[in-house]
Amino acid sequence: MTTTLDKWQRPLRTLRISVTDRCNLRCHYCMPEERYAWLPKPELLDFDEVVRLAGLFCDLGVRRIRLTGGEPLLRRDLPVLIGMLKRHTSAEEVSLTTNGLLLERFAAELREAGLDRVTVSIDTLQPDRFEALSRRDQLSSTLAGIRAAREAGFEGLKLDTVAMKGINDDELVPLLDYAREAEAEVRFIEYMDVGGATQWDPERVLTRAEILERVVATHGDVEPLPGRGSAPAERFALPSGQTFGIIASTTQPFCGACDRSRLTADGLWLHCLYALDGVDLKTPLRAGESDDALRARLREGWTARADRGAEQRAASPDRQALVPVDRLKRNPHLEMHTRGG
Ligand code: GTP
Ligand code: 5AD
Ligand code: SF4
Repeated sequence: MTTTLDKWQRPLRTLRISVTDRCNLRCHYCMPEERYAWLPKPELLDFDEVVRLAGLFCDLGVRRIRLTGGEPLLRRDLPVLIGMLKRHTSAEEVSLTTNGLLLERFAAELREAGLDRVTVSIDTLQPDRFEALSRRDQLSSTLAGIRAAREAGFEGLKLDTVAMKGINDDELVPLLDYAREAEAEVRFIEYMDVGGATQWDPERVLTRAEILERVVATHGDVEPLPGRGSAPAERFALPSGQTFGIIASTTQPFCGACDRSRLTADGLWLHCLYALDGVDLKTPLRAGESDDALRARLREGWTARADRGAEQRAASPDRQALVPVDRLKRNPHLEMHTRGG
């Protein structure tokens, strides 16, 4: 197995491919603004281009591919892309992170195309709150999507909840109960000060310590589970045996084990979720560069990588939103919905 190591000896193993920057929700922690500058359509990589780049990444050691957005199911014919990635790359796993709104329509087709795993974002079980948080009255679609994913046969279903103080922090227990019934593992995510989170406020972060305190208060002691590896989530078991996760990127960054790269829908390669710039792969790709030359770019990029974005943020004094709104408007690549979470 090929391994390409960065400056901190971290292998390149996971590739998160954003297939569109568009989204059908407007979650407060990600897209709180009224207007957005979108990536121009002709700039988006087509499926052949995505698969070619993904294949080259696999040559350097990528084993897992995760499709993200915006909302990835807004990309037309997504199951076709999944089938191509399964057939034409050596990735061991292709997974999807979605808000679930369109999952009821696509779950069976995605499964047939060979998709291995699905993660659905769900921040609340209250319809009014869902609408207040995401500006769309669509909780029932997300719930139907989760049900459909299970019925289509997806195992290892995960739910992502951004836990925010004064917004949904009273729903940890209902979400744990819902996850158990849905046969899914819920992960509580700390609110991050990434691009896009222009309303970020440290007062709103429900920390890992607070999440654990609340869960222990209602359920009793939890047991940390071993085998985290490079995963963002720490996993725990409740006394009942039910498992859940915490992704503590804000207060306890996990950069030391990060094996992830991100590719935007228009072919910008980002070495870190917090990176302020990236490597343009679309231009050489469209200029007809050879596989060898493109692979050399990837190798060069990863071996020079020293990013530890979340750790740097955690160490910065007077922490506030990372990127001001006017700068996001000038450069949509800085947005969370462009880089895929
Ligand atoms: P699996 O564990 O393989 O299911 O996937 P995952 O947890 O990597 O994927 P998912 O898309 O569900 O990501 C969960 C959360 O972790 C999202 O909020 C991401 O923004 C966050 N996350 C994922 N990768 C990184 C990373 O490299 N750095 C930081 N700071 N956060 C990340
Ligand atoms: N903080 C934490 N997680 C975020 N996401 C988007 N913006 C933020 C943020 N500011 C994550 C959510 C969503 C995934 C796609 O990206 O988990 O489910
Ligand atoms: Fe919400 Fe994801 Fe859409 Fe951002 S990209 S607004 S987190 S559903």
